[in-house]
Amino acid sequence: MNPREVLMSLSMNSTHAIDPKLFKPEAGSFAGRVILITGASSGLGRALAIECARAGASVILSGRNGAKLERVYDEIEALGAPQPAIAMLDLATATAVDYDSLADNIGTEFGKLDGLVHAAALLGDRALLEQYDVPTWCKVLHVNLTAPFILTQVLVPALRKSADASIIFVSSAVVRNPRPFWGAYAVAKSGLEALRSMLSQELEGEPNIRVNSVNPGRMRTAMRAAAYPAEDPNTVPTPQSVSGVFLYLLSAHARTVDGEYFEAQ
Ligand SMILES: NC(=O)c1ccc[n+]([C@@H]2O[C@H](COP(=O)([O-])OP(=O)(O)OC[C@H]3O[C@@H](n4cnc5c(N)ncnc54)[C@H](OP(=O)(O)O)[C@@H]3O)[C@@H](O)[C@H]2O)c1
Repeated sequence: MNPREVLMSLSMNSTHAIDPKLFKPEAGSFAGRVILITGASSGLGRALAIECARAGASVILSGRNGAKLERVYDEIEALGAPQPAIAMLDLATATAVDYDSLADNIGTEFGKLDGLVHAAALLGDRALLEQYDVPTWCKVLHVNLTAPFILTQVLVPALRKSADASIIFVSSAVVRNPRPFWGAYAVAKSGLEALRSMLSQELEGEPNIRVNSVNPGRMRTAMRAAAYPAEDPNTVPTPQSVSGVFLYLLSAHARTVDGEYFEAQ
């Protein structure tokens, strides 16, 4: 290759390389994909639901507050995107029957699941371990760690029916750098990383299912405001602005990306 050809080949390669942080799905590229998002009523989950629907996915909005979920449903309908579905599930109180009926309904309505994003979480107390309220500890571990485990377990059969399924656990900076006062939240998020790694390895023989985690970084949401009440929210990125890595992992471009931890910012 002469120098001009080398330059042309370099520029062609860079055109094709995808930076997950800047990823935006082409219009319609998620058509036919069925994606369930927990915590779809607000913050990151809401933003991801809207972006997935905008790209053509049929989104299953899961949450505990029907009125808030209906508002997101209406926003998606107003975009002219595929009709979403609402799956009421309070992760603090759901029983085996609730999980099983969700899985059954997905089987009946859609026949498969192509994406599962575990965005729901509770902050819990910001307190010293010595003083941490034990019932709150149990609730946070249940909602943030045990419930995503159960939901994943009951939905693996539907994910298996997809040619290209993506599971995403939502991580946090406190996993790599546990700091005082983060209590059960930090422990649950660390547990999700173990879950991500084990599940990815256990499903190694099934290349149609990938399992990754994403730390979204700081986002302008109710949870962030509760954790940092003195912070000016306008200095914090919106959930929509950090959605690139999530959308990349949900897209066919990430087919072979499995068992990894990502940072969205
Ligand atoms: N914001 C940040 O700076 C930041 C940084 C790192 C990681 N994260 C992670 O990002 C994810 C999204 O959080 P966010 O910042 O978007 O916070 P958010 O706006 O407070 O959203 C949390 C979501 O979890 C839902 N939820 C809480 N308890 C639930 C339960 N028992 N059953 C079902 N759903 C429940 C909430 O539902 P309701 O609307 O009904 O309350 C809400 O939709 C979380 O996993 C969080 O840990 C956030």
